[in-house]
Amino acid sequence: MDYLPIAGYCDKLSVRPGEKIRFYVSSQSERNFSARLHRSICADPNPKGPGIIEEDASQYFPASSFPSRFQPISIGSYAETISELEPTPEANISIKFWFMPTRINAGNQVIFSWGNLSVSIQNNGQLSVKRNEQLLLESGVSLKIRRWYRFEFQIAPNGAMVFDLKCPANHSNQLETVTGQINTEDFAKLFNSGATIRIAAGFGRDKNCFNGRIEAPQIKENDTTIAEWDFSKDISSLTAKADIGPDLLLKNAPTRGVTGRKWDATEFSWKHKPDHYAAIHFHDDDVYDFDWDCDFELEVPDDMPSGVYVMRINAEGNEDAIPFFVCPPLNRPKSDICVLVSTFTYTVYGNHARPDYSPSYLNRMKEWNAYPYNPAQYPHYGLSTYNTHSDGSGICHASYKRVLFNLRPGYITFGDAECSGLRHFQADSHLIAWLHHQNIEFDIITDNELDRDGLEALSSYKIVMTGSHPEYHTSNMLDALKQYRDGGGGLIYLGGNGFYWRIVRHSENPSLIEIRRSEDGLRAWAAEPGEYYNAFDGSYGGLWRRNGRPPQQLVGIGFTAQANFVGMPYKRVCHDSEFEWVFRGIETDTLGDFGFSGNGAAGFELDRCDEKLDEGEDITILAQSYDKDGQFILVPEEILTHLTNLSGGPEDQVKRADMVYFKTASGGQVFSVGSITFCGSLPWNNFDNNISTLLSNVITKFRE
Ligand SMILES: [Fe+2]
Repeated sequence: MDYLPIAGYCDKLSVRPGEKIRFYVSSQSERNFSARLHRSICADPNPKGPGIIEEDASQYFPASSFPSRFQPISIGSYAETISELEPTPEANISIKFWFMPTRINAGNQVIFSWGNLSVSIQNNGQLSVKRNEQLLLESGVSLKIRRWYRFEFQIAPNGAMVFDLKCPANHSNQLETVTGQINTEDFAKLFNSGATIRIAAGFGRDKNCFNGRIEAPQIKENDTTIAEWDFSKDISSLTAKADIGPDLLLKNAPTRGVTGRKWDATEFSWKHKPDHYAAIHFHDDDVYDFDWDCDFELEVPDDMPSGVYVMRINAEGNEDAIPFFVCPPLNRPKSDICVLVSTFTYTVYGNHARPDYSPSYLNRMKEWNAYPYNPAQYPHYGLSTYNTHSDGSGICHASYKRVLFNLRPGYITFGDAECSGLRHFQADSHLIAWLHHQNIEFDIITDNELDRDGLEALSSYKIVMTGSHPEYHTSNMLDALKQYRDGGGGLIYLGGNGFYWRIVRHSENPSLIEIRRSEDGLRAWAAEPGEYYNAFDGSYGGLWRRNGRPPQQLVGIGFTAQANFVGMPYKRVCHDSEFEWVFRGIETDTLGDFGFSGNGAAGFELDRCDEKLDEGEDITILAQSYDKDGQFILVPEEILTHLTNLSGGPEDQVKRADMVYFKTASGGQVFSVGSITFCGSLPWNNFDNNISTLLSNVITKFRE
């Protein structure tokens, strides 16, 4: 496998003064690696823009060096007993479970292993029982994907073996009974007089992880059950508690809350019929935490300003840059403005291998001295929830406890775009750079603080402003934002396709996030019927709109159209003197016909008003864009037929961004732009442009 020469990650993406942040590094160099702290101002490598701007921050972390060491990556999910299980000598052993393969002809896939004994699907699709590498028994028939099989294996102290394979979906049901014989000496060595058990992986150097679902494993000794697990219990947990025997720890977060062998489409929530959801889905490319050893840590000093920071690690000229965010102490703001950084959205997109990635990007990456790697080239670092597993199922778990290629200064998302081609962390740095350039003091709060601390994370601020794409939210986050706004706060939403998907954090490991791409919406894959409910808390997954909380309720607008990474200008449509403050100093009605993201302030993903979905506030549309060239598509949740859509009007009129302002009854106010590319216009012409003026005007007004 191809590993980066040096790479790292940290144990959290955001930290407050007094807290520690730990760094984990793998370096293939034989020399020490250096670590140097920088404050990140701009992460756009485009030489036509501000470029990558960082300030030395070594007063908060003295430049240091540490021994290099290689730390491997072990992806693939499985379950492992917390202790050994020892059979009584001279007992008959029986091993039984149900399984449903989702991938065949993918090498050896171990379904069950205990000491030297393993049950696996071989590359030829046949089920086998092995003692280490020695084949003991093999099915004559090849398995089929997405069929539930019942398997039972029995072995006696005299070495007599039998396995029994059934497939209830198959008319004959009984597929095979295979018998065999080993000598009694080999039988004695099978379990090493006590060994741990792995389900869905082996113990070899390559774990040979299984792709598919497993249900109801059970081990008997003569007629006594010595281990039994019912996966329909505690579905939200990362431990599968045993009814009898040792508990199983779930490694690398396999998927729970999935349909099992009994599921018959009579119930769609696992909470209501857990026995229909008694399976766990394992994947050979699941990854939660690289689990590397810690190399160094930083305790954030009290005087370290809230901001975006990057730990740059370097060995013999090879480098990685690990971003993290420093927030102010709770309830001790340094400014009246807070930028809400979408770290959950960054995580959900973490290592997104885009289908449109092309090796031609490498030329631009080299030319611009940009971040030199792309997740599409390194799938063994684990992919994103915008990708699918090797068995074709959607990746529904996300974590930042691993190297995330696209969370790096200078990473380019669209290497062929006629602009900087940035999204997320790098695109949001256009806003960060603008705030620095305008000498506007600001604090940073991330999704982590918003979810954990709720309203308290925001209540000190007059203004809370988002970045370009705050797409993923927990219910806590939406509650906090609504309470902040309705308590008189000023909410500035500077993105598009925001507040779109519902996510859940894992209660045992909050760095693990779940997303079910249920029902509809613009999505990278589709959740299976019966699997629309999150395993982590049983909530109905998918769009917030399908959960009765459309983004229009919070920010007045919601997702309506998508195109390639292109932008258009807005046209000012409101000339009412009451709103002159928005446009003060701007002579033209054409706004943002420029920018480093899509060359226009209204682009890529657009939001608009819809009075059917908002809360009935008096929303003023200040400016709008229109889809003049037919480049945009209407989002699926807006489409009814090939002729009609939910707006009731012509489709081209609803493929637009609405820039809006409204007040809430309790004195809160909202300004929303409804475009992902808006922030890309801020640095244009050395920050001197009408989008920059307009945002300055809004901030001035909201600060009053
Ligand atoms: Fe998105």
